[in-house]
Amino acid sequence: MDAAAAINQLRAGEKPEFPSNASSLDFALSLDKSDSEVLKSFRTDFVIPTKAQLKRKTVNDTPETTAQASSSDDEIIYFCGNSLGLQPKATRTYLDAYLKTWGSIGVNGHFTQLEDSPIGPYQDMAADCAEKMADIVGASPAEIVSMNTLTINLHLMMAAFYKPSGKKNKIMCEWRPFPSDWYAIESQIEWHGLNAKDTMVLVEPNQDYLMTTDHIKQLIDKHADELALILLPGIQYWSGQLLDIPAITAHAHQHNITIGWDLAHAAGNVELKLHDWDVDFACWCTYKYMNSGAGGMAGAFVHERHGNNGPNKGLKGWYGHDKTSRFLMDNKFVATKGAQGFQVSNPSAIDLTSLSAALSVFQKTSMKALREKSLLLTAYAEFMLNDISKRNSTSGSEPPFRIITPQDPRFRGAQLSVLLKEELMERVSAALEKNGVVCDKRKPGIIRVAPAPLYNNFEDVWRFMEVFEKALKE
Ligand SMILES: Cc1ncc(COP(=O)(O)O)c(C=O)c1O
Repeated sequence: MDAAAAINQLRAGEKPEFPSNASSLDFALSLDKSDSEVLKSFRTDFVIPTKAQLKRKTVNDTPETTAQASSSDDEIIYFCGNSLGLQPKATRTYLDAYLKTWGSIGVNGHFTQLEDSPIGPYQDMAADCAEKMADIVGASPAEIVSMNTLTINLHLMMAAFYKPSGKKNKIMCEWRPFPSDWYAIESQIEWHGLNAKDTMVLVEPNQDYLMTTDHIKQLIDKHADELALILLPGIQYWSGQLLDIPAITAHAHQHNITIGWDLAHAAGNVELKLHDWDVDFACWCTYKYMNSGAGGMAGAFVHERHGNNGPNKGLKGWYGHDKTSRFLMDNKFVATKGAQGFQVSNPSAIDLTSLSAALSVFQKTSMKALREKSLLLTAYAEFMLNDISKRNSTSGSEPPFRIITPQDPRFRGAQLSVLLKEELMERVSAALEKNGVVCDKRKPGIIRVAPAPLYNNFEDVWRFMEVFEKALKE
C-alpha cells in the first residue's frame, strides 16, 4: 500500500483501499516502517508507561515499576490524548531548569536569561509560548495569548465579545456542549440579567449524532436577528465531529454575528487557520493534544481585526498592561498589543515551563505533517474496527458497536467515538483496563479511541484491536 497516495485520498475525503492482509500485525508494522524517520522519532520524545507502572500504588519506584519495557508488549496502549496527552521527556528537563533558576536567582528569574537554560525570563515566557502556538493554530503570535485555563478564557472572551442588546441577545451553542462551556454560557447570560433558558439557541444534531454545516447555517439564518454571539466546538468532544469552521464562520459574518470557537479537541490535532478563516476568537486547553500536563496553561486567539485594545473591550489586569511600562505602577492602563492585552494576572511560570517543553516537540515538525500521519492512523483504526464489527455480527442482529464519528476524514480529527451496545460497556471497559489500554469511556456506551500521531503508531492500533475484539467475545 502506498501511504502517500492513501493520505492524498483521505485529504480528498475518500477512503483508501486497505489490502487483504491489512488486519495482520505485519501490515501494521509495515505502515510504521514507511512512516518518516522524523515522525517515527517523536515516540521516543515521550514517556510511555509500562503496564506495571500503570498499576503502581506508590509514586516512587518499586522493583516492579523500575523495570524498563523490554518489548512493545510491556508498554501500555495510550489512546487518551484527547483527554490528557502523555508526558514529553522535555518536561522534566525544562521543569528542572525552572526549579534551579528559582532556587538560585529567586526573583531575578523574572528578567534574567541563564545562558544554558531552555526557558527564558519568566516575564517573556507567555509571549514565547504564544509564538510557539501560532503555527499550530494558524495565527500570528500577536493574535495568541497563553493564559489561565480554558473555561476562564471562555469567560474572559465572552465578557469582551458578548454584548447583548435588546432583541439581539442570544448565544448559539451546540446541543451537547461540554458541561463547562454550558455553565460558562449560562452564567454569562445570567450576568447580563437575562434568563439562560430563553437566551440559548441550541444546534441539535440532524444526521444521527452529527450537525451538518447546512443545518447550522439554516439555524443561523433563522435566528440571525436575535443572535449576539455564536460559540461552537471545533471538534465536538463526544462524537468527534470536526465542524467546518471556515464555512460556519463566514456564514455568521454574513449576518454580522460574532463567532468564537472552543478548540479544546482541535488544537494540536487538526490543521487550523484561525487568522485566514477570520475567526473572531477561540480558546483551547493545552493538556490534550499539546501535552502540557493536567490543567496546563491554556491558549486563546483574538483576531487582529479586533485591534490592539483587547482589555478595553473586556476585563483588565496588570499583566494586560504593556510590558515596557507595566512596572511604572501609575495605574494608567496601556494595553499590550493584540491578544496579550487580555492577560489579567502574572502567569504561573511553572505552567508556562511545562507548556514550553511540550511545544518544543511541535517545533520539530508541522501540523501538516502530523495531520497526514493522523489521517492514516485514524483511517487504519476505522478500517480495523469495521472489520471487527463485521466479524462479530451475526446475521439479522445488531452489530456490537458502531462508530458515530463522521466517516469523511475531513470532518474528524484523531478521535473515533465507538458506541457500544449498552450491555457491553462494563465488560469491554474492564478488559481494556486489564490489558493495559488507556482510553476514555463516557456512559452510556461511548469509548473514545484517539491515536495521537506524535506518540502512537500503527502497531498500537493493531494491539488495541486485538484486545478490543477479545473483550467483545469474553
Ligand atoms: C470541550 C471542552 N470544553 C471545556 C473543557 C474544560 O476545560 P478546563 O477545565 O481546562 O477549563 C474541556 C475539558 O476537557 C473540554 O473538553
